[in-house]
Amino acid sequence: MKSTSLVLSCWLATSLGFAHGWPAMGNTAQDLTRRLAQDTNNDGDTRPVLIGDLKNGITTPVGQSIANILLRTESAQSSVAGYTPPRLGSADCKADTCCIWSYIASSLAIAFKGPSGRCNKYARAAIRLGFHDAGAWALSKAAAGQDFGGADGSIALSSSEINRPENNGLQEIIGLARKWQKTFGVGMADLIQFAAIHAVVTCPLGPRIRIFVGRKDSKTPAPDGLLPGVNDSADTLINLFNDKTIPPHDLAALVGAHTSSQQFFVDTSKSGAPQDGTPGVWDTLFYNQTMGTGPLPKRVFRFASDVVLSQDPRTRPEWIQFSRAGGQSHWNEDYATAYTRLSLLGVNNINNLAECTKVMPAAQPTFPGALDLLIDE
Ligand code: HEM
Repeated sequence: MKSTSLVLSCWLATSLGFAHGWPAMGNTAQDLTRRLAQDTNNDGDTRPVLIGDLKNGITTPVGQSIANILLRTESAQSSVAGYTPPRLGSADCKADTCCIWSYIASSLAIAFKGPSGRCNKYARAAIRLGFHDAGAWALSKAAAGQDFGGADGSIALSSSEINRPENNGLQEIIGLARKWQKTFGVGMADLIQFAAIHAVVTCPLGPRIRIFVGRKDSKTPAPDGLLPGVNDSADTLINLFNDKTIPPHDLAALVGAHTSSQQFFVDTSKSGAPQDGTPGVWDTLFYNQTMGTGPLPKRVFRFASDVVLSQDPRTRPEWIQFSRAGGQSHWNEDYATAYTRLSLLGVNNINNLAECTKVMPAAQPTFPGALDLLIDE
């Protein structure tokens, strides 16, 4: 990143992400210094920009924290925990924004974990759902008067978005999201992003990404044509994500979500084929195997879009860094930062959100079976 020194001084000035008085996971001075140093041979990404209402001013501590995350001066991961919620349904619970999310977190912990401890098909679908709701937003559309879509729940609340071809395979998880919304009475936009972030930490080795709630729901279908195609060129993909304020560096980190994934519709004769040898584990094997480094298990199906990104000079340097020894913590931090941005696209009340990270399950930084191949759940 060319703006490394600028970011570094900004980071020093803003006290290293200890803004809340608690040290966030992966948020030590050393961690951030190392990550910024690792990023120096990156792709010439421009300085990250603020989004939503933050562009008009930062008016709350939460708005400040989110702005710091977006500008890469504060960690998007945190280990803050130790919350015991008041009894469900009690007045104390109703008065505490995070209380209901604590009960949702407990339910999702069961729903998303398979018997061997890997994250299961509902977790994978929830991660993809989070992307498909939030990702349907673009700067160019907003500038042309279509500032809607994004992380607004419309993928589940509108009657038409679910029927778009790119959302094939998401019907079951949308059905579950509707059921959970009915049970817990929370907003759909938040529920979808909460589930996507919860699912990632449920996967062994996955980052514990900070969670913010309070988004507004919308039934208006998002503008069409804003999600990527598996056969798109690197240029098309990079331009599409740039238009979401997501630079190539962050795109390389985000598509790493395919470490956990399986495909059902790209090649129906290979239904269920995973994108690396360890679906359900949030490891960096995906980066190696997409580049063709090392043996490729027969069942692994590489997406053409991932292959072109692994080769493009704007995304390849980061790809290689993630794939190397020590790449896991670098990737986890970059994914957490990039996903926080993605999860807030189209949100215009960021200053008014509340942080509920304390209700999330603990991360699982080691997993004995991480290198078992192809155990699907
Ligand atoms: C270049 C951008 C991307 C393209 C072209 C792409 C394309 C795809 C395709 C074609 C599938 C398989 C669908 C099926 O056949 O069942 C898939 C699955 C998946 N994608 Fe992506 N994707 C992209 C980015 C992302 C991002 C940014 C995320 C998350 C942050 C994500 C998360 C997932 C997950 C978790 C699955 C697996 C779903 C499951 O196993 O049920 N993808 N993606």
